[in-house]
Amino acid sequence: MRTQVAIIGGGPSGLLLSQLLHGRGIDTVVLERQSRAHVLGRIRAGVLERGLVDLMIEAGVGDRVQREGIPHDGTVISHGDEMFRIDFTALTGQPVTVYGQTEVTRDLYAAREAAGGTLMHGVESVEIQGADTDTPSVSYTLDGQRQHLSCDFVAGCDGFHGISRKTIPETARREFEKVYPFGWLGVLSETPPVHEELIYANSERGFALCSMRNANLSRYYIQCRLDDRPEDWSDSAFWDELRRRIPKPQAESLITGPSIEKSIAPLRSFVTEPMRWGRLFLCGDAAHIVPPTGAKGLNTAASDVHYLYNGLRQFYEDGDSEGINRYSEKALARVWKTERFSWWFSKLMHRFPDQSEFEHKIQLAEIDFLRSNTAAQTAMAQNYVGLPY
Ligand code: FAD
Ligand code: DHB
Repeated sequence: MRTQVAIIGGGPSGLLLSQLLHGRGIDTVVLERQSRAHVLGRIRAGVLERGLVDLMIEAGVGDRVQREGIPHDGTVISHGDEMFRIDFTALTGQPVTVYGQTEVTRDLYAAREAAGGTLMHGVESVEIQGADTDTPSVSYTLDGQRQHLSCDFVAGCDGFHGISRKTIPETARREFEKVYPFGWLGVLSETPPVHEELIYANSERGFALCSMRNANLSRYYIQCRLDDRPEDWSDSAFWDELRRRIPKPQAESLITGPSIEKSIAPLRSFVTEPMRWGRLFLCGDAAHIVPPTGAKGLNTAASDVHYLYNGLRQFYEDGDSEGINRYSEKALARVWKTERFSWWFSKLMHRFPDQSEFEHKIQLAEIDFLRSNTAAQTAMAQNYVGLPY
């Protein structure tokens, strides 16, 4: 079998890249390890930057997000019972869009299917060969049969645990990592959101986030210990803890219900450099991870897709390699800025187990500065709505 671009991983990065390239007549094959139901069952991101919505429109999958996505003009930050608002639209001219990653993925699956695109689920033992030559290829096992796919380029969109990054020899890459000493316990419930905008809560008991998917679907998170397990947290223990971490009026008006999903995510900052090795390009979580505070993971995956799509388009349409040659440099310049923002916002909002009294006082001073200083709010808002591509 042959294609122009072999895409490993059928998460949002791989699907969006495939659909965008299809729009330019560039052929792709997407190889995904999991079933479609598994990919759609992973509850993850909920906040989209304008850049991602624009890419979805360009890919021909923008109708539903524009119709059903909820524009948010700002967000609330709280400390104890004190709350203040950061007005994204007033400060930057742009809102963000609340629309679940599951829905982005669902829209992309539908579009790929309608276009007759090749997307294989349940592929095992994927290996990349000859990425540092002009004739790369990918082999994989499907239904017990070993298969071989020749291609011009390989896009490694297979997430943090994928094989693409590890295909680059250790001597040719560098990794930068910070692991945080806590996780996020997330709950999805069919209840109305506690507030019309998201609430990022710093409390003496640790961080909490009140988010949503729609008028009757709420997403809440609380900072938890790394050794906690979701089954250790009953629904009522979760709701009690959430109430203790958010301002009193919200705690009192919170409507609770049975959780329909409960999971724990560890927090990590990670970047691998470079994001290209020969004809292999890393894209999204395969190349970098941010802690979720600030909602940057999916959005940063989208900015990689933007640079890679435009580089490949330039190559196929104009015979110009400049875009693919500069892919790693351009993508990393933006990646490091979102790494910085996610690290800063995580540091500002969480209780660290080894935090000294001094560090705690500095954290409170910084929250007060953000509350009262328009320049600080503008910098926060610019990062939150998304830095330009
Ligand atoms: P993935 O979604 O990880 O997709 C990679 C795909 O590759 C997967 O489907 C996987 O099955 C497949 N795969 C892996 N290995 C192989 C292999 N060997 N062969 C074939 N296929 C393989 N981001 C935000 O922007 N906003 C948020 O609000 C936000 N909230 C989050 C909340 C949580 C709890 C978590 C965990 C993450 C959150 N993120 C958020 C991050 C966001 O979900 C990720 O950045 C995003 O999924 C990255 O997309 P991707 O396609 O690059 O990787
Ligand atoms: C969500 C997750 C985030 O990490 C974030 O910063 C905002 C919202 C969410 O899942 O809704």
